[in-house]
Amino acid sequence: MNASKFPKITTHVLQEMKLKGEKVSMLTCYDYSMARIIDEAGIDVILVGDSAANVMAGYKTTLPITLNEMIYHAGSVMRAVERALVVVDLPFGTYQGNSREALNSAIRIMKESNANAVKLEGGREIKESIDRILSAGIPVMGHLGLTPQSINKFGTYVVRARDEEEANRLREDAKLLEDIGCFAVVLEKIPAKLAEEVTQSIKIPTIGIGAGSAVDGQVLVIHDMLGINQDFSPRFLRRYHNLYEEMKGAVQMYIKDVKSIDFPNEREQY
Ligand code: KIV
Repeated sequence: MNASKFPKITTHVLQEMKLKGEKVSMLTCYDYSMARIIDEAGIDVILVGDSAANVMAGYKTTLPITLNEMIYHAGSVMRAVERALVVVDLPFGTYQGNSREALNSAIRIMKESNANAVKLEGGREIKESIDRILSAGIPVMGHLGLTPQSINKFGTYVVRARDEEEANRLREDAKLLEDIGCFAVVLEKIPAKLAEEVTQSIKIPTIGIGAGSAVDGQVLVIHDMLGINQDFSPRFLRRYHNLYEEMKGAVQMYIKDVKSIDFPNEREQY
């Protein structure tokens, strides 16, 4: 990719995109090879999400992934990316309840992976941690609505903020994240109408996942949208490929060719 032809996306660029009404495209990514492809394709934001716990490591929730593992994924992505803004999730247990630990975790991510920003799940309850990270000059993306690190509190992955009390709390938290200086906020699995209202009421970009079309951008987990992961089919997911079947088919052809001594042929040897 010619970097001068495609200037680096920064948090300021995202702000300008919101002002111009240009939607932000965001995908998760966890490794070098995939990051090269999606950066060259022109994605605006890459999220090294803690969903790596699910799609890369096979855990049932995002809770087990460690800070060291997130730094490994983030460093791999960063070695490939020239244009996209790269945001890294602070994993569960590295920022809640202790703002000093939150800052140390964020600094480790920035120093050891060279990423551009961090993302934290939650609103008022983690304000002190966000404040402290921001005070060190580290850009923070918020995350409200369904926050998978709190699955043990929620009990299920159903749509959040359907009732007025939770919707009000989310409205207030979105405003708080804007006021303290977050550069964007992910809105996960909330009613489209509420996401639209929040998007219009704050100046920072909102990035939706299962939050309708009236947000400032969209994010999906790359393994879900490419059809590598077939176990997950929520209503909000659009699949752009069936890579699970394509990759399985390619591997089956390879096995057949090896067994029948069709591979390697004359031209494929020295
Ligand atoms: O970890 C992740 O993939 C996320 C997205 C679902 C927003 O946080």
